[in-house]
Amino acid sequence: MRTVYVNGEYLPETEATVSIFDRGFLMADGVYEVTSVLGGKLIDFDGHLARLERSLSELDMKKPAAFDDLLDIHRELVRVNGITDGLVYLQVTRGSDGDRDFVFPDPETTEPTLVLFTQSKPGLADSPAAKTGIKVIGIEDIRWGRRDIKTVQLLYPSMGKMMAKKAGADDAWMIEDGHVTEGTSNNAYIVKGNTIVTRHLSTDILHGITRAAVLRFAREAQMQVEERAFTMDEAKAADEAFVTSASAFVMPVVEIDGTALGDGTPGPVAKRLREIYLEESLKSAV
Ligand code: PDD
Repeated sequence: MRTVYVNGEYLPETEATVSIFDRGFLMADGVYEVTSVLGGKLIDFDGHLARLERSLSELDMKKPAAFDDLLDIHRELVRVNGITDGLVYLQVTRGSDGDRDFVFPDPETTEPTLVLFTQSKPGLADSPAAKTGIKVIGIEDIRWGRRDIKTVQLLYPSMGKMMAKKAGADDAWMIEDGHVTEGTSNNAYIVKGNTIVTRHLSTDILHGITRAAVLRFAREAQMQVEERAFTMDEAKAADEAFVTSASAFVMPVVEIDGTALGDGTPGPVAKRLREIYLEESLKSAV
């Protein structure tokens, strides 16, 4: 049984509870981070922590009491649960003042809820999907307008994943005003010639921590990077495509809305960036 962390306590998962009045539960009033673990170490930890701090501040949410101890808590959970490869999930919600109300509770008297748990995923970096690539479909992006904040409002992304499954694909790319925003739980890229194209940062997409690292490594490797919106037609005509996230790293995309890219196998740029990302991020793992 896993040991999880809730508001200052390490508990067996079956004994960990939060209030039914918690605003995370009633209103999706919460933010989260997912950090990957490779070889027992945390990947891109500082980036995830910095984004968490920003998400909290954008929502006027108080930092949980143990904020300065988050690295220690991550490490302790990895240790006690014997995680070699996997993920640490962290969630902060605005907490509960013992009732349901649209008005935020007084931060002086209501503490945020802090929950962390691990997911063991042996061989996370060698997933079979990385060798075959994944298939994506396009769906309309009907999410709210502050996608740069990593909130737990994941119903539509979850529905998108189900739409993809139903269509015989693995994931969905969301489209707004004719342009791809991002994947249901990852950032989206296409490659044409020597140029990598991915949507520019704004409130329309999550500012991926993996995205930032991958674009830095791509530029260091003298690849051309264009940060701009692209259409599904442009994507279908691309040489290759891929997605990035903390759990998938760099994942090749081999089919878009039924159109195979290139020869239908992972392209060289995606493969190379995956290798560089795994190699470089392991060097700075903590
Ligand atoms: N998802 N875009 C969206 C909508 C996401 O949910 C995620 C991450 C990303 C990639 O961000 P990063 O590189 O920082 O992981 C982009 C996480 C992994 C999840 O929800 O499980």
